[in-house]
Amino acid sequence: MEQLGFREIAGLQLRDDPAREGCFHVVRSDGEMHEYDGDSAIARRELIHRHMSNEITSLDIAAQMLVDFPDAPWELRMELARQCWDESRHVMVLYRRLLELGGRKGEFPISTFEWSVTSALDNIAGRLATQNRTFEAGAMDVVGGLARGFREIEDETTAAVLDGILADEIQHVRFANRWIKKLAESDRRVLMKVAMAVRFLAEANARLVWKPGEVNAVGKVLRDPQETIPAVNIEDRKLAEFSDEEIAVILRQAGFRSLIPDDQGERPAQ
Ligand SMILES: [Fe+2]
Ligand SMILES: [Fe+2]
Repeated sequence: MEQLGFREIAGLQLRDDPAREGCFHVVRSDGEMHEYDGDSAIARRELIHRHMSNEITSLDIAAQMLVDFPDAPWELRMELARQCWDESRHVMVLYRRLLELGGRKGEFPISTFEWSVTSALDNIAGRLATQNRTFEAGAMDVVGGLARGFREIEDETTAAVLDGILADEIQHVRFANRWIKKLAESDRRVLMKVAMAVRFLAEANARLVWKPGEVNAVGKVLRDPQETIPAVNIEDRKLAEFSDEEIAVILRQAGFRSLIPDDQGERPAQ
């Protein structure tokens, strides 16, 4: 079996692109993607295509953890195997919806950034912190908002598909939170590895994220990345067992200070 190597991108050692069918065009920047404004038919197809591609990437990342860390605890490997099954279903339901809307795989460019960053890390706690606890937790926030958006334009079918995916994603984030804590309890050095993974991701983001005002390949002006942080999906993050303090940190970073309870558990006056 061919081993996937590394390649240098923006001065960082990232994992080589995963294999993709020939119909897909893999790009490395948001400016090359075909994200559209609004809810036109093509905008909807591109959005579903992009999420379908992200689900393939999630499957790749979980599967590669099984390959790269054969000595990980059996129960953690079982969680990752179940995640692979969930992600493969997510790919299929989004693909089916894409076909129903007249789309096809490979219709738009795709990115495998999450794979390239996560799978470059040499330890399982770092990968769980990056993929499950950061990218997938972020996806919970995005998908919750997208489902509401599809309901507003009376596309109940796509909204229901997204609701189903969200229910599974909560478990992917939850088991990662549980296992990072468990691994850190038996070896405090794990915390340092997690912190290094968080820094590596922040560095990759800083070097590769789009610039405010950049225009993408289909003419959409990309907003300041800071303005595109989605509303934080607090209820689902709680179900995924983020602590209140961790949620407060996320809310602070996302600019939702007024939602953070003070020390007495009271919300500050608006
Ligand atoms: Fe998924
Ligand atoms: Fe997932």
